[in-house]
Amino acid sequence: MTEHGILEPLSEDQWFIDSQELRSFVATVRDISVDTIDNRKLTLDRLEPYFQELLAQEGWLPEKYAQINPESGMGGGIGQWLLYRSQDRSLTVFSLVIPPGSSTPVHDHLAWGLIGLYKGNQAETVYSRIDGGNLEGHAQLEVVEERSLQPGDIYRLLPPEGDIHSVKTTSESPSVSIHVLGNDTGCILRHQFIPEAHSVKSFRSGYSNAPCKEEDTENVRI
Ligand SMILES: [Fe+2]
Repeated sequence: MTEHGILEPLSEDQWFIDSQELRSFVATVRDISVDTIDNRKLTLDRLEPYFQELLAQEGWLPEKYAQINPESGMGGGIGQWLLYRSQDRSLTVFSLVIPPGSSTPVHDHLAWGLIGLYKGNQAETVYSRIDGGNLEGHAQLEVVEERSLQPGDIYRLLPPEGDIHSVKTTSESPSVSIHVLGNDTGCILRHQFIPEAHSVKSFRSGYSNAPCKEEDTENVRI
């Protein structure tokens, strides 16, 4: 990261787990996302069946990356574990682990993506922003959808559609969701909202296992 907060490209792709299932999925994502670069709805449509397949497979996600994290950047003990990051930071795969009863803040992602529930149950509230974004610190949101999710269910991010949400774990065990995003979600500056206060602020969630600056990552990768 530069002093202005702009993310520099990495020197190579980064893998944080050793999984043939993940490697083959990422290869597919890369092919599809290049082929459909001008139509991100098509990217999601084409990707979804392969993502379903990954979510249905047991055993590829190490236990360590299905754990909550008391020192969470998201708050609430939420673990955000980076599994793969491309050299140019235009693609990441990570798991998000939310303890029972905990919720994420209302937040955005600022990139196309698919999120699939792997374990546990979640309640998701999707918002849309209805103000023009002209007033610093102010945002007006309205709820557009409330859903309850079972393992295997997928939600789509196609900003601005579906991009702002909050998620709560409703199962007695933590929920584990897998994220495939078209940016370096943990490292970019994005937004956190408090709908009832009509407020918005910038935040950087970070990852539980990987820093945003390359020079700090050497000891955490496989
Ligand atoms: Fe999210």
